[in-house]
Amino acid sequence: MVDLSAPAIRARKACNGTDRLVMVTAYDAPSARIVDEAGVDLILVGDSVAMAVLGYDNTLQVTVDDMAHHVAAVARTKPTAHIVADLPWMSYHVSPSETVRNAARLIRCGAQSVKLEGGRKRLPMIECITAAEIPVMGHIGLTPQSTHVMGGFKVQGRTAEAARRLVQAAKSLTHAGCYAIVLEGVPVQVAELVTEAIEIPTIGIGAGPVCDGQVLVFHDLLGFEQQLNPKFVRRYAQLHHSAKEAVERFAGDVRSGVFPSEQESYQLPAEEAAELGVINP
Ligand code: KIV
Repeated sequence: MVDLSAPAIRARKACNGTDRLVMVTAYDAPSARIVDEAGVDLILVGDSVAMAVLGYDNTLQVTVDDMAHHVAAVARTKPTAHIVADLPWMSYHVSPSETVRNAARLIRCGAQSVKLEGGRKRLPMIECITAAEIPVMGHIGLTPQSTHVMGGFKVQGRTAEAARRLVQAAKSLTHAGCYAIVLEGVPVQVAELVTEAIEIPTIGIGAGPVCDGQVLVFHDLLGFEQQLNPKFVRRYAQLHHSAKEAVERFAGDVRSGVFPSEQESYQLPAEEAAELGVINP
C-alpha cells in the first residue's frame, strides 16, 4: 500500500522519478468514494465548496462550521487517500490561538492536514499550526480568498518581479514547514521556477504541466456546471448534460404514467388483498 502520509507526500518530487501527485476535491460522501476508488492521492475538501456546491460567487462566505460539516462527511467514508481540509477565510487571520483551534477542529473531523492561502505574511500562523503537530499545505499564486485585493480571479506572477516574489514565498513556506504547496493561476515558466526552487512538491491548478502534481475541482472535471469555462479545466465528462437528460426522462415517465412500474412497487400478500377486496395487479 502506498504511504500517503504528509511526510511521504513531502518526498514526492517528480524530478526524483516518482509519480505526479493527483489531488481532486470532494465535499461529501459520494464524491469522496468516487475519487478514492479512482485512486487519487489526496482529497481536498476545498473552500471551493462555496461555489461548486453552495451557490456563492466566491469562497469568502464559507465558515469553519461549513468546512467541519464537509470534512466529516468525506472522512466518514474512510478513504485511502490523504484528506486535506481548507482553512476558510478569517479562520487563520486573527490570532495564533484561534488559528490552531480552527486547524485542530478540522483534524478532529477527520482531515490529516490543512491548507491555507498566502505567502510570507502567513509564516507565523504556519509555524503555530505545525508546532501543534498539524501538517500544512501552502497555496500561493492566484489565491481565491484574496479576490478583492487581486481585483478578481486573475493570473498572478506575470512580471519578473512578481515571479521572483512567488519563488521567495515558496521558499519561505517550505522553511516554515509546509509539506507541499498548491500553485494556482501562474504562467508555466513561473511554476517551473518555483518547482525547481523548492524541495517540497508543487501541486498545480492553472500552472502548467511542470508541477509535481495537479489538482482539479471535482465538479469542474466532471462537467457539472456549464456557465464558467476556465482555460485550465479539462472536462472528462459532461455530467450536467447526462444528469439533466436523466431527470427529463424521469419527468416524462411520471407524466405519462410509465413510472413506477409493477417491479418498482410493493404488493399486498394475496390473502390480505382478498380480505380487503382489492385486486393485486
Ligand atoms: O478550494 C479549492 O478547491 C482549492 C483548489 C482550487 C486548489 O483551493
